[in-house]
Amino acid sequence: LCHHPQQQQQQQQQGKSGGVGDDEDGGGGSGGLEGTDAEANDAVHLKRRVGLVSGVALIVGTMIGSGIFVSPSGLLLRTGSVGVSFVVWTACGLLSLCGALAYAELGTMNTSSGAEYAYFMDAFGAPPAFLFSWVSTLVLKPSQMAIICLSFAQYTVEAFTVDCEPPSEVVKVVALLAIVLILLINCYSVNLATGVQNAFTAAKLMAILVVIVGGSYKLIQGNTQHLQAAFDTIDGTTINFGRLATAFYTGLWAYDGWNNLNYVTEEIKNPSKNLPRSIMIGIPLVTLCYALINVSYLAAMSPSEMIESEAVAVTFGNRVLGVMAWLMPLSVAISTFGSANGTLFAAGRLCFAASREGHLLDCLSYVHVRRFTPAPGLIFHSLVAGAMVLSGNIDSLIDFFSFTAWIFYGGSMLALLVMRKTRPNHPRPYKCPLVIPVLVLIISAYLIVAPIIDKPQIEYLYAAGFISAGMLVYLPFVKFGYVPKFMEGVNAFLQMLLEVAPTAVAFD
Ligand code: ARG
Repeated sequence: LCHHPQQQQQQQQQGKSGGVGDDEDGGGGSGGLEGTDAEANDAVHLKRRVGLVSGVALIVGTMIGSGIFVSPSGLLLRTGSVGVSFVVWTACGLLSLCGALAYAELGTMNTSSGAEYAYFMDAFGAPPAFLFSWVSTLVLKPSQMAIICLSFAQYTVEAFTVDCEPPSEVVKVVALLAIVLILLINCYSVNLATGVQNAFTAAKLMAILVVIVGGSYKLIQGNTQHLQAAFDTIDGTTINFGRLATAFYTGLWAYDGWNNLNYVTEEIKNPSKNLPRSIMIGIPLVTLCYALINVSYLAAMSPSEMIESEAVAVTFGNRVLGVMAWLMPLSVAISTFGSANGTLFAAGRLCFAASREGHLLDCLSYVHVRRFTPAPGLIFHSLVAGAMVLSGNIDSLIDFFSFTAWIFYGGSMLALLVMRKTRPNHPRPYKCPLVIPVLVLIISAYLIVAPIIDKPQIEYLYAAGFISAGMLVYLPFVKFGYVPKFMEGVNAFLQMLLEVAPTAVAFD
């Protein structure tokens, strides 16, 4: 049996270099490597390979996932009118763009991969940085996985149910099966996981294109009635200030991933130019796609029908595509499956990197001895995601995720402002106008506080609980490095059971 105390020390000295020994070449990538970036996994020596085009692709590929296929109904319900929902969709795009520009300053100032972790370390020190990696491994990544798998299940089940609502138990079971399948793929081989990723990204783009082309056709035919009188309220819906924040949660889920490029800054060619440029092209592009898709949905169904539909894209397909209607659920299922695969891929690496720094249990940093996949981290994530699937539904999980995520996005804005004060002379290859982080900080404060005041939900309490638990764990187990005696036995048992071992040298 193997131990790797020295390795961990060495890793701590190196700082958060991330990387994973997941292939014979010795792995690489970054702690927060995003799965949608299949190629980044090959970035063994962190070569600067990401140019403008792949930068844009990385952003667009992560942002477009399940959200645009599940959020439009919820957003319409929460905003109460077509007009306001369009305003929110666009505002979400603008907010993501502003957030990303602030991240561009942070990412070009501190180019080590790992995004928030690195910025919190610089601005606030180790405890908040630890809290981030704790929350992202325990809450953010698994909830992303759970939401995307539930969306996958919703679409798959919807395709087979005629004239009735898909039973939620069935949807949950299918979501769990998807998690298991994705876990097996990711544990089996890195190449298989990245292959699935690439193939399935194409399906996603196709689904988007089909909706936009189909919608345009409907519009040309003159189906514009649902787009007129856009600010009239849809029957029985109301909007207020607090509810608007949850509408933003729904919309922002579809845009999440705008900070994706910051996880791989070390690999961007000429980052001070390409990082802000990719952001300025990628995010407006996604915003445009989302606006067009919403118009397309409304060209095919009324707002009330859209709210009632469990899977808008399926309803859209049935109305517009005729005999080809099956194309819609299929391509959405494939697209969401691919996104979930990418999310687990990234989550496994994040968990791996965090545990190697002593932030999580040692055994979570072990790698399968023959397959070189970070199996324990992947299994751990799948278990947490599975629990979330069982205990929540898409909407509650999106609220739970967005609430937690915006605490940290807001934290990054604060980090930027703090560093403008504490490190005024540090080189900033890209400097964003000061009003941007201030604005995003204020909006994130609103996004965090308003939903609690409007309608306190148990999910927000869970999120706050997780964050506080992180603080309790930090002192004894991380700062003072206390490891309970029985952990040695647990680690040994897991090494034998899962055929995993600590990796020593397979890192750059
Ligand atoms: N926006 C994506 C979707 O609509 C979710 C992205 C999850 N976030 C991430 N960093 N992978 O499904």
